[in-house]
Amino acid sequence: MPEIKDTVAVITGGGGGIGKALARHWIDNGGKVVIADISEEILVKAKEDLGPAAETFLCNVTREEDNFALASFAIEKFGKINMIAPFAGIISDGLMINTDRETGKVKKKMSLEQFQRVVEINLTGVFLTVRECAEQMVNNNCRGLICLISSTGSLGTAGQINYSSTKAAISVMPKVITAEFFRRGLSDKIRCVAIAPGYVGTEMVKRMNQKALANILSDVPIKRLIKPEEVAALAGDIFRNEALAGDTFFIHGGLRLGSKG
Ligand SMILES: NC(=O)c1ccc[n+]([C@@H]2O[C@H](COP(=O)([O-])OP(=O)(O)OC[C@H]3O[C@@H](n4cnc5c(N)ncnc54)[C@H](O)[C@@H]3O)[C@@H](O)[C@H]2O)c1
Repeated sequence: MPEIKDTVAVITGGGGGIGKALARHWIDNGGKVVIADISEEILVKAKEDLGPAAETFLCNVTREEDNFALASFAIEKFGKINMIAPFAGIISDGLMINTDRETGKVKKKMSLEQFQRVVEINLTGVFLTVRECAEQMVNNNCRGLICLISSTGSLGTAGQINYSSTKAAISVMPKVITAEFFRRGLSDKIRCVAIAPGYVGTEMVKRMNQKALANILSDVPIKRLIKPEEVAALAGDIFRNEALAGDTFFIHGGLRLGSKG
């Protein structure tokens, strides 16, 4: 079974809750990380918290040239990439169309900008990071895992047509990438999976409508939010277990979404 020790993880959104927990998990197990995030301030804090085994790189995942530079930086610094974790993501919640309670007529629509912004970061950004880092993995003969992050939102959460759509798309990517790598004789060296958390205690969840969150939590059998460290540990377990490939693994404390999402 492959160990994390001496391996290199590239983590986008690595200054945020789940990304940073994964970086900590990697370092605690003897690995090294490249943390990519959108602001210098976030990166300085991450470097302070994570120490010398962490390199940081300023990267807006929606920009093709930033992803190219990120993947090249990881190879220059460490000579290899073993784990690609494109965890940068946002929410921007709202109903597709919202009606006025008195008139029953539509009073508000989700704007095109609100829809596309989430797609740009959560879907196009993931594609770009994975494409650039996987190219470097193949060309530098690296072994490892592409670990995408979907969500229980992929099953369809009301108020998240933008977010849920991107996460449903992410859930299918492990199948596509694994099949493509199989065709090219790469799939025994580079596996691809997605993990799909329920509600995790990070800044992202703090930005949600707290009333809606309380309602959701009352339906979670383990009666609490998932911890970022628990998601990170799952990613580590999947990295070590080479029988796991081409699928999406849920971690949600038993949550099932009801018919009202
Ligand atoms: N928190 C949850 O409940 C939950 C559940 C399921 C899936 N997820 C997914 O996990 C991932 C991480 O979420 P989190 O809860 O840690 O969120 P978070 O908000 O704590 O962290 C996200 C990080 O992404 C960075 N980021 C945002 N836009 C970026 C961009 N354009 N380029 C580079 N970096 C950018 C942010 O600066 C932040 O550091 C996301 O993809 C999210 O969809 C989260």
